[in-house]
Order: sequence, then structure tokens, then C-alpha cells
Amino acid sequence: MRRFVLGVAAVTLVAGGASIGVFLYGTNAPAASAVGGPTPQNAAKSIMTPTRPPPETFARVFAPCAHCHQIGDGARATSGPVLTDIVGRRAARTDYPYSQAMIRSGLTWDDTTLRRFLAKPSDVVPGTRMFFKGLQHDEIDPLIEFLKKPNLDENG
Ligand code: HEC
Repeated sequence: MRRFVLGVAAVTLVAGGASIGVFLYGTNAPAASAVGGPTPQNAAKSIMTPTRPPPETFARVFAPCAHCHQIGDGARATSGPVLTDIVGRRAARTDYPYSQAMIRSGLTWDDTTLRRFLAKPSDVVPGTRMFFKGLQHDEIDPLIEFLKKPNLDENG
């Protein structure tokens, strides 16, 4: 009984955010209790649903974007929307709180719109919340190729 009460206290602490860093990637998570079955640690893990960004997010060519975006299978919205399969898609179509500017842009992301947007986002979508100064032109085409087909062999 005593063990159970202590366990509940631990879950509350984690759910309250006190140990978020520990569970985010699960690397430092304490080993499951020897008793087996549901443990406070396992409950906390499922609450925090720890996941790493997909490996494509760490590709070199994607480095200027990775502070704010994830890409690849299982990518999640972070401070920016998921960019998996972005090329060919209309703007502002993922589960993410876009700015009105992006929602109303009417853009479809293709080579032309991405080239312009990535050179200077605020010129193409005035009022966008993507605060990014833009890339040099020679950086843009390799990045668009990567967005079309994230490939760690060539870009990792
Ligand atoms: C500082 C954070 C930040 C960085 C760095 C950044 N973005 Fe963004 N990006 C955002 C945010 C925030 C939005 C949503 C903008 C809005 O709603 O106005 C966005 C939106 C986008 C969109 C439109 C997505 C959609 O679903 O319509 C594309 C495309 C995009 N970013 C590509 C990139 C690429 C490629 C890079 C790397 C060169 C990059 N971004 C770098 C924050 C960032």
C-alpha cells in the first residue's frame, strides 16, 4: 500500500511537468519496477509519449529548418508545422495553429513558391509567423529536393 501511494505521487509530479526532460527521450527513465505490470514510470511514459524526431529531421541539408520543423514518418508539429510531404500540398493543411496570413495565402507549395518563400518568407506571406531571414539561393534547390524525398544517404 505504501508503495502504491508513493507511485501516485511520482506520476503527479511528472504530469505536472517537473520531470519532462527526463522522459522526453526516455534515455534516463528509471527502470520499470521489479513488481511488473503498470508502474508509475510506465504511466508517466505514456502520458508524455516520448518520441524522438524522425531521423530525416537531422539531415545536414535540413539543419536550418530543424529548430522549428520535423520531417519524416511520425514527425510532429513543434514550434513549426510538420513538413513531411509538403511539396505539392496547399499551405496550412496540417494540424497546426497557423497564422491567418498563412491560412489566407492561397499558396500551393511547389518548386516556384518554395524557392520564393525560402529566400524571404515575409515577402511571400506578409505577416507569417515563420520568423526566418531566408536562405541563400544556392542552398534552396538542394533543400527542395530533400523536401520532396527525404534521403539520409545523400544528405545525412
Ligand atoms: C524559427 C522557426 C522556423 C524556422 C527556422 C523555419 N520555419 Fe518554416 N515555419 C515556421 C512557422 C512558425 C511556420 C508557420 C507559419 C505561419 O503560420 O505563418 C512555418 C511554416 C513553414 C511552411 C508552410 C507549411 C504549411 O503547412 O503550409 C513551410 C513550407 C516551411 N515553414 C518551410 C521551412 C523550411 C524548408 C525551413 C528551413 C529552411 C524553415 N521552414 C525554417 C517556423 C520556422
